[in-house]
Amino acid sequence: MHHFHYAGSDLHCESVDLDAVAKLYGTPTYVYSAATMEDNFRRLQRGLAGLDAQLCYAMKANSNIALLRHFSNLGAGFDLVSGGEVRRVLAAGANVHTSVFAGVGKSEAEIKLALENGIFSFHVESEPELSRINHVAGKLGVKAPIAIRVNPDVDAPTHAKITTGKSDNKFGIPLKYAAAAYEAAAKYPNLAIKGVQMHIGSQLTSVGPFVEAVEKVGPFAAELKARHGITYFSIGGGMGIVYKDALASGQRAWWDAQPADKRPLTPETYGAALVPRLQPLGLKILLEHGRFMVGNSGVLVSRVEHLKRAAGKNFLIVDAAMNDLVRPAMYDSYHEIVPVQRDSSRRALTVDVVGPICESADCFAKDRPMQELGEGELIAFMSAGAYGYTMASRYNTRGMAAEVLVRGSAFEQINARETFEQMVAGERIPAFLK
Ligand code: LLP
Repeated sequence: MHHFHYAGSDLHCESVDLDAVAKLYGTPTYVYSAATMEDNFRRLQRGLAGLDAQLCYAMKANSNIALLRHFSNLGAGFDLVSGGEVRRVLAAGANVHTSVFAGVGKSEAEIKLALENGIFSFHVESEPELSRINHVAGKLGVKAPIAIRVNPDVDAPTHAKITTGKSDNKFGIPLKYAAAAYEAAAKYPNLAIKGVQMHIGSQLTSVGPFVEAVEKVGPFAAELKARHGITYFSIGGGMGIVYKDALASGQRAWWDAQPADKRPLTPETYGAALVPRLQPLGLKILLEHGRFMVGNSGVLVSRVEHLKRAAGKNFLIVDAAMNDLVRPAMYDSYHEIVPVQRDSSRRALTVDVVGPICESADCFAKDRPMQELGEGELIAFMSAGAYGYTMASRYNTRGMAAEVLVRGSAFEQINARETFEQMVAGERIPAFLK
């Protein structure tokens, strides 16, 4: 559920008319609902009642410092993957002590920064990495807290580019070699073994793969507790969200109307299946959900440039492009697209929704039936809160979009639209061309 809805004919985020946001800050602009993020966070927390659980929001999904502060105020730690993300946590005035550092290629400088700021734990993906973390910790005269990421080889049906739990991808150490990796870790003088970690993939829409992975890794976690005294088990992130009926899924009635076998995954179902399997381990449980926390909390608002009618095709050309929201071009992913002003008296038109960038991949939707729209009117891309802004680029010298956070009837810009001067600030003409 989320807080985007029509009040009369106008699309609102909580109590704010998106048209008012676009008037003030222009387009394309990402608009986020603070209440939706809070609901998502609290529902997941309630679903996990009975566990000693720590939610570490996977900030790669959306790392704006205002969102980090919001989640930190709610009690979240963070799952971070770079020195830049460590610095974002600090910039948000949030807590590195409850955050974990993941990723297959942490540099020495990144490891040092995380250690100096009291990272809760490193999630280690290979034996050479153990050695590197040990080396940096030794230089600083500290013991580095670590957990090894194990790869449970679970087939989690999702897009090929975002599956991570199968043994044929680059993540983690296969379960059968993991015990040896822990023995190796135990020999390093500057490492402190704290936990075990897994993550099987992203945008998973059923609970089965999560259950399978917990059942595979759970007994190993129990062994590690006995042998190495680990205190936590991180079960990763990956809970999926609704993309197809995104707007309707804001309402309880939509969820109630879904047939039992087609119901998207909810935090309640997730918790009900996992809590009884995790509880007996007597370990702290970390979770690293990103998309679930913010995906349905954000939309990308864009303005129509032209309706171009070509032979047998209509193109709705809008001012957002693949540089602003790359998911459709990169993963063929679906985002629902709705008019900001709904008008049921207009006829429906089938359109390709495209951006102004000079390549055919700059296409958000093909043959999409939509209310007929014309120049200057606004649309919203739903479910754009996760992996939208964070994956954006400056392709075609288009500056990064603005971002706005709404809470109730208040809204503020939390990131200004990037200017041309900012885009070229680091560029120089070398002396030999002058
Ligand atoms: N933990 C680890 C170790 C991860 O690699 C990821 C995501 C997460 C947690 C958070 O997963 P989530 O809860 O958000 O599914 N750009 C893609 C998604 C890539 C996910 C990468 N890893 C997309 O737009 O669909």
